Amino acid sequence: MRRFAIIGHRAPSVGSFNLNDLSGSGGRMDVLARAINAALFISHGIREDTEIIVHLNGDLGFSRRVKFDGRILKGVHPDERSISGHIRSIIGKEMPPIGIYEVISEGISHSGGRLEDTLKEWKEMDLDILILDSGGESNKQWIKDDGLAFVISDDLNFTKEENEILEVYKKISLGSNELQGQACISIIHYILDNQM
Ligand SMILES: C[S@@+](CC[C@H](N)C(=O)[O-])C[C@H]1O[C@@H](n2cnc3c(N)ncnc32)[C@H](O)[C@@H]1O
Repeated sequence: MRRFAIIGHRAPSVGSFNLNDLSGSGGRMDVLARAINAALFISHGIREDTEIIVHLNGDLGFSRRVKFDGRILKGVHPDERSISGHIRSIIGKEMPPIGIYEVISEGISHSGGRLEDTLKEWKEMDLDILILDSGGESNKQWIKDDGLAFVISDDLNFTKEENEILEVYKKISLGSNELQGQACISIIHYILDNQM
């Protein structure tokens, strides 16, 4: 499996948002939806080897995580509005406790919690955790068949607090240009698909 975690710094975790205003009232939900698209969708299907956890951090004290699991995902279409619609319906629901993923539909579940909770769970699963950062190492010694988990930010840089939490992990660069998140995910897939 390949795992991605993306941080939605302004994405609402409770209430609702306007599907016609994903970047404004959705707190850059468009960026998160494109990342989900790049992580999970191929031309005529879904990557069954990939999971992405979206961190909705926009409402102080109410961080929620939404997990999309490509192994069993059904009923999601690869467009920003449809993906965002799934997330919008989830944030209207009661927040499950941290670490308890409550199933919403096949391949979609949600839990309370923040980046540090995802990292703790990944460590318990013995995954190799890699932070996507243009200033990181550019060698590809991290490549392997299975058990990789990548952390990526939305359109904002990681916060000071996040950087402190992420300090202990290996940072990898996909080049000196600052890329959009969904492009980084596609490049990771390309590298791992071709083991290059
Ligand atoms: C759009 S960028 C972050 C915002 C950007 N730093 C800014 O100035 O607004 C989104 C994320 O993609 C990842 N990223 C972007 N370019 C990268 C690169 N060249 N190598 C590795 N990761 C990259 C990082 O995780 C970054 O936080």
